[in-house]
Amino acid sequence: MTDTLNAQAPEIRKGLNGVVVDETRVSKVDAASNSLLYRGYPVQQLAGVVPFEDVVWLLWHGELPTDDEHAAFTRTERSARQLDPTLRALIDSLPVTAHPMDVLRTAIAAIGAQDPEPQRPSADQTYEHALRVLAQTPGLIAYDQRRRRGLGPVDPRDDLGYSANFLYVVFGEEPDPADVRAFDVSMTLYAEHSFNASTFTARVVASTLSDLHSALVGAVGALKGPLHGGANEAALALLDEVHDAERVDAWLDEALAEKRTLMGFGHRVYKNGDSRVPTMEAALERLLDARPGGENERLRDVYDSLQAAVLERKNLKPNVDYPSGLAYHLLGFDTEVFTPLFVASRIAGWTAHVVEQRQANALIRPLSEYVGEPYRDLPAR
Ligand code: ACO
Repeated sequence: MTDTLNAQAPEIRKGLNGVVVDETRVSKVDAASNSLLYRGYPVQQLAGVVPFEDVVWLLWHGELPTDDEHAAFTRTERSARQLDPTLRALIDSLPVTAHPMDVLRTAIAAIGAQDPEPQRPSADQTYEHALRVLAQTPGLIAYDQRRRRGLGPVDPRDDLGYSANFLYVVFGEEPDPADVRAFDVSMTLYAEHSFNASTFTARVVASTLSDLHSALVGAVGALKGPLHGGANEAALALLDEVHDAERVDAWLDEALAEKRTLMGFGHRVYKNGDSRVPTMEAALERLLDARPGGENERLRDVYDSLQAAVLERKNLKPNVDYPSGLAYHLLGFDTEVFTPLFVASRIAGWTAHVVEQRQANALIRPLSEYVGEPYRDLPAR
């Protein structure tokens, strides 16, 4: 019985598979061009060409920024990078064994308590708050990775762009421009992807007229799972587990026999290949070429062989988490930090959707088909 008084025979769409729940102007998976479009622009044309900060502006405002808008936006972002000491103290109060996604989720919740949105915020007010979260996220991730490595914090630099400063605060030295470009490509590719699970979570929270930070915290929780953003971490673990290209066939025999999920492969929307993969793979190739040598050659071989074998045996293609996981490893990030990097980027898309949801809001509240005990009276007591 459906949980409504006038139930029609319901059609259950598990996982909302194939269900269109609303309109959006933010992004589109475009079958015709096999592209992901941000406000109409193919992401493969944006990545590595338009800096991530301008991609954020595009997602929030619908057009690329003018020079003046770019200057004002980057000035504000750069001036908001320094972490409040209370945030550092909060992270220090958490166990060093805590997963970095749990640390980041806690820190974003704390920012929401320190810097709450006003009642009935305008879109611009929401973007101002989101920009402060976006600006602080690299510092939060860096502070956490560095404390786990027994290193002190690095102050942000306001003469570096978003991606360059990100690498700087994590690793403590001015990054190679080629690394910055590869990282910036990943930031752009991860920034937005229509009604994926975490974005939908953000929209559900926003639909109750709750605040931006609650929507972001909910989205972080949804992204953490290995079927979604957690797959970039899990994909690298897979490469580690296979270890040698010669072992791929035997490993895959066993994995398929055990019906294991192959992390970094498959996608709910793309059934013929994730349109972001070629761009991310090109960036990965450049990182590998710049780091020749035994260990990385081994990883490259495992990466290629596993991809070919999974295609041949399961007809499954990789999603963007497969190349990005290895790219982040080559850049020097701890594996557990990969999904927080995804968060840093996707704050852009989540925020655009929170604003869009509020602009034409309808409370998101689906129905369910009740299959439990039928009506029964409480026994006399
Ligand atoms: N490993 C093994 N089998 C798979 C995989 C996979 N990675 N992906 C799909 N399949 C199988 C399904 O089990 C299903 O088999 P069945 O018909 O025997 O039941 C069949 O392929 C078809 O599955 P779909 O309906 O296409 O998959 P669905 O839309 O339910 O799932 C998902 C998509 C969750 C992403 C899935 O492909 C998966 O688990 N992938 C691994 C996790 C991952 O990489 N997630 C990242 C997604 S992209 C992102 O978040 C950036």
